[in-house]
Amino acid sequence: MTKTPPSIIALDGPAASGKSTVGRKLADALGYLFFDTGVMYRAVTWIALDEKINVNDEVAVTRIVQTTDIDIRPPSQNDGRACDLLVGERDITWDVRSSAVDANVSAVSAYVGVRAALTEQQRRIGLRGKVVMVGRDIGTVVLPEADLKIYMDASAEERARRRYKETVARGAEADYDEILKKMIERDRIDSTRAVAPLRPADDALILDTDSLTEEQVFSRILEFCR
Ligand code: DC
Repeated sequence: MTKTPPSIIALDGPAASGKSTVGRKLADALGYLFFDTGVMYRAVTWIALDEKINVNDEVAVTRIVQTTDIDIRPPSQNDGRACDLLVGERDITWDVRSSAVDANVSAVSAYVGVRAALTEQQRRIGLRGKVVMVGRDIGTVVLPEADLKIYMDASAEERARRRYKETVARGAEADYDEILKKMIERDRIDSTRAVAPLRPADDALILDTDSLTEEQVFSRILEFCR
């Protein structure tokens, strides 16, 4: 590692490209804050479903970000979580990983008002520096001034395999074909939306992780930090 590693590190890529796992490891190694921005979009989606708000109603969903207190705090439990995700006093850290949230989060994250509010919060936190920020649009929109931008990619099949394994490891039921189908649909929505679509920044380093182990991905990323 150099004496001064990049302060703002943006890690973007599609679902299950491995960015959260490696981002967390990198943040630990550098003593940086790990911030997975996807949990914010997931929280808004979970609230909409919980309050029986139609996720296709953009105005009603956008109102959620203006009226609800979504908080991210250091982990209070040692159960694999990177942080606590709270709505009011309720801990929804694992609730936001449900298949219902998976199925609706891309629609919610395409709304302009939702993105504007969450982007502003993310930017404020990111500009403090010493942060590994993970998402879809960190290098392009949230923090275009990031010192290091990495775009992690992998085939939809490989990513579906990883998501399947993760789900089974948590003791939940999983169907590989169904996961793959939904993954492809989410990729389509995330990369074709009008605002902040999923794409690498022009100055991002691209890392294809298809044939790499977790350790190999991590050491490549450490090399990028040098
Ligand atoms: O990384 P994830 O699967 O937890 O992200 C959930 C959704 O949030 C995903 O469909 C895309 C969206 N998202 C986004 O649009 N911008 C971000 N910076 C992070 C996530």
